[in-house]
Amino acid sequence: MRMKIVAGNWKMNTLPAEGAALAQDIVNAIAEVPSDVQLILAPPFTHLDRVEEVIKGSAVALSAQNCADKDKGAYTGEVSAAMLAATGCTYVILGHSERREYYHETSATLNGKMAMALVNGLRPIYCVGEKLEEREAGRHFDVVGSQIKEVLYGLTPEQIACVVVAYEPVWAIGTGKTATAEQAQEIHAFIRKTLAEKFGVLAENIPILYGGSCKPSNARELFAQNDIDGGLIGGAALKAEDFIAIARSF
Ligand code: PGA
Repeated sequence: MRMKIVAGNWKMNTLPAEGAALAQDIVNAIAEVPSDVQLILAPPFTHLDRVEEVIKGSAVALSAQNCADKDKGAYTGEVSAAMLAATGCTYVILGHSERREYYHETSATLNGKMAMALVNGLRPIYCVGEKLEEREAGRHFDVVGSQIKEVLYGLTPEQIACVVVAYEPVWAIGTGKTATAEQAQEIHAFIRKTLAEKFGVLAENIPILYGGSCKPSNARELFAQNDIDGGLIGGAALKAEDFIAIARSF
């Protein structure tokens, strides 16, 4: 049985007090969410402490949106995986398309971040996904296959067992345009097959989340697909009601 996960990626939104209030609204509504669905909140770094205070003792888990690819030292502006773990994070989002696009994260950087996350006991939520022009050129399988191979194939069986994958087609992020359930299932099955080629049966247990304009109105159809194990939610995660409604969509 694979984990079912609904993770909220708040990106660079909310001030700390607003984030704490949003987390509180989610904690207050958790009884409405089936107990086999893991909720994860990924607020900005500055809110982690406060959000951790709010969710402590609940079934909601804390994630960061990024971590450094180095252990510690003179890296101004960076936040280490050890710092995140000490702040209560149990997950970290890595390789989000916005990080790849605007901050030039490559597979090389992501290998370092992955290693740091795993060494410090954080479960990486590793994001992959193609751009619009790549899909239009029919290259989406190649692009996503390379993203998986270049960053995950170097892991040990023990390490891959900690990883969550998120497929987020770049053309669907924040655009209101969602992949159809068939398009998403097709590539999720491809991701699982690619993982199975390296890790065998372990691939069966790796949660693969869909992200990209996932909302209460489309979550049910997406989550009903065989290889879709939940969602990485951006915009709709900023409203407790929508986030909870998505988590009730399995
Ligand atoms: P969105 O973002 O739900 O706003 O499209 C998803 C994501 O980027 O994680």
